[in-house]
This record gives sequence, structure tokens and C-alpha cells, in this order.
Amino acid sequence: MQPIELVRLAEEARDAAYAPYSGFYVGAALLCASGKVYTGCNIENAALSPTNCAERTAFFKAVSEGERGFVAIAIAGGRDKEIKEPCPPCGVCRQVMAEFCDLDFLIYVSRGQGRYDTYTLSQLLPESFGKNKLK
Ligand code: THU
Repeated sequence: MQPIELVRLAEEARDAAYAPYSGFYVGAALLCASGKVYTGCNIENAALSPTNCAERTAFFKAVSEGERGFVAIAIAGGRDKEIKEPCPPCGVCRQVMAEFCDLDFLIYVSRGQGRYDTYTLSQLLPESFGKNKLK
């Protein structure tokens, strides 16, 4: 799958976002080593802290279906229907990525109009705390 296709799926996944409190709509599309793509959206809560980001929704859907290998995730977020600015993943989502992904896991952040930024997980979460530290 081409990165731009994954970015488009993330943009589409925004349509399901439940964001009545922030008005900030995020979608994610996670490409697994199996070739399957799991999408996710942000799901907010009146108590605020139970809110789940789009990226974690996609990861938890995939992991709960037995997926363990991950290639790339695309993320698209913003207030408007069209994406105008990049929405890089929050720190909690980066940590969840670090649990399941190698350092070369790819993160595509939509800029709208077919443009996107590309990062590796090691760029976005250097010196991370992970399972190797617990040995
Ligand atoms: N949000 C995400 O879904 N992903 C991110 O990477 C950043 C933030 C959501 C959480 C909340 O519902 C809204 O965007 C505003 O923070």
C-alpha cells in the first residue's frame, strides 16, 4: 500500500470521530505486517480523561484482533473538514507505538491536499522507556 493511500484512509476515518468537547476531529489508519489496515478515530468523554486518541483506537482494535506486527500509521486531524495543519501523535500514543513497533515504524502525518510528513518512531520518541528496561 502506498503511503498516500494510508493517509487518505486516515482522513476518511475522521468522519467517525466523537469529539463534542474539543471539536478536534482525528483519524488514523494503521498498516499491519499482515497487510490489513485498521482505522480509528478519537473518542471523547465528558469526564475528559477517558478520552481515547485516534491512534490508540486503531492500535487497540488491531491488537485485540491478534495483530502484533506493524508497518506504518497515518494520522489526520484538525477542526475543519479539510486538513490544514499537521496533527502529530501525542506522547501517550507514541508510548503505545513503542510497545508494539520497531524504531523504524513509519508515521505519516497529513498536511491536507495530498501532502504529508514522514517520521520514524525513533525520531518522534528517542530514548524511550520500553520492555527491554524491565529485564
Ligand atoms: N487527539 C488524537 O486523537 N490524536 C492525537 O494525536 C492528538 C489529539 C485527540 C484527543 C482529543 O479528542 C482531541 O484530539 C483534542 O486533543
